[in-house]
Amino acid sequence: MPTIEKPLIAIVGATSKQGRSVVTALLQSQRFRVRALTRKKDTSAAQSLEALGAEIVTVPLELGHQKDLVAALKGADGAFLMTPPIAPPETIEAPLGRQLADAAVEAGVGHIVFSTLENVDKVSKGTKYAPHFTDKAHVADYIRGLPISHSFVMLAFFYTNLLEYYVPRFEGDTILLPIYLPEDFRAPFVDPLTATGPVVLEIFSNPALYNGKTLPIVGDVISPREMVEAFQRVTGIKAEYRNAFTRDGLLRHFPEFAANELLVRELLGMVEYAVEYGYYGKEHDLDWSRRLNPDTLNWERYLRSTGWRGDKRSFGL
Ligand SMILES: NC(=O)c1ccc[n+]([C@@H]2O[C@H](COP(=O)([O-])OP(=O)(O)OC[C@H]3O[C@@H](n4cnc5c(N)ncnc54)[C@H](OP(=O)(O)O)[C@@H]3O)[C@@H](O)[C@H]2O)c1
Repeated sequence: MPTIEKPLIAIVGATSKQGRSVVTALLQSQRFRVRALTRKKDTSAAQSLEALGAEIVTVPLELGHQKDLVAALKGADGAFLMTPPIAPPETIEAPLGRQLADAAVEAGVGHIVFSTLENVDKVSKGTKYAPHFTDKAHVADYIRGLPISHSFVMLAFFYTNLLEYYVPRFEGDTILLPIYLPEDFRAPFVDPLTATGPVVLEIFSNPALYNGKTLPIVGDVISPREMVEAFQRVTGIKAEYRNAFTRDGLLRHFPEFAANELLVRELLGMVEYAVEYGYYGKEHDLDWSRRLNPDTLNWERYLRSTGWRGDKRSFGL
């Protein structure tokens, strides 16, 4: 009797926080085969995906490699597409995203899921500078015009930003948490490592249902004051909020950012946008991903499950 093969899903940026979550959820479901695209095969991150059962394919994630991308996506029933972190003045994010989508169309992929964000430029009428949001929105607009079934995920601010980039420091017995939002402003946050996969699994399990849809992925809607209180409660360490959302605050706590003025403008623009307009457009149901996956971690459960006590963490394995 012929065996029916499980659908194959290709994951761009498979070793990223989002990508690893998707690979893990798809393989754990035992309903999909996974092809993990990476720039390098011999890293521990790639090897750990291989150990989970993913097929590893090396391909450059840069402009001018359409042919390689088409070859890497050939035969896939679905593809998860994301663009890596790209700091200004580099401006390749929109063309890179379009190239990924074009390659998926050329390879004959059945359904794509692109990780996008809101169009800050449009929403703020050009007053806020956050190209890593707007560029993704431009890619999403481009994908809407392509002859391919598609969905979008839109992730909240990552909890991991505080562990990776806005790392706290001790002053005596007190830990100071410089957070890039005003103390009482509630913003959506999420753990990309555990929350992305279940949503993308749901989409690839029902692509027709989610065709054309944008799905927000949210773990908590929480203010810095509440984050610091939860940190104290969970760790037992005395903790205080510090402002890293104004230029002065940001550069006082993270003087290294001053080396890239455009990056400073982008970080401030992103935060001003979130505070003044809301991180997500009002049309989104911010509870959807938590109803879908009741195990989605809120901030307090994230702290408990990771055991984070304020140390700097890196997520490249
Ligand atoms: N931080 C937030 O709050 C937040 C919120 C929503 C969306 N986002 C978006 O999420 C994306 C980042 O996702 P992530 O944090 O999951 O990624 P990540 O963990 O930083 O990993 C990025 C991956 O992309 C690959 N890569 C290819 N070219 C790269 C390059 N030039 N620089 C760095 N990595 C490169 C690397 O894989 P290989 O080495 O295996 O090729 C790496 O594993 C960004 O586009 C960001 O704007 C972030």
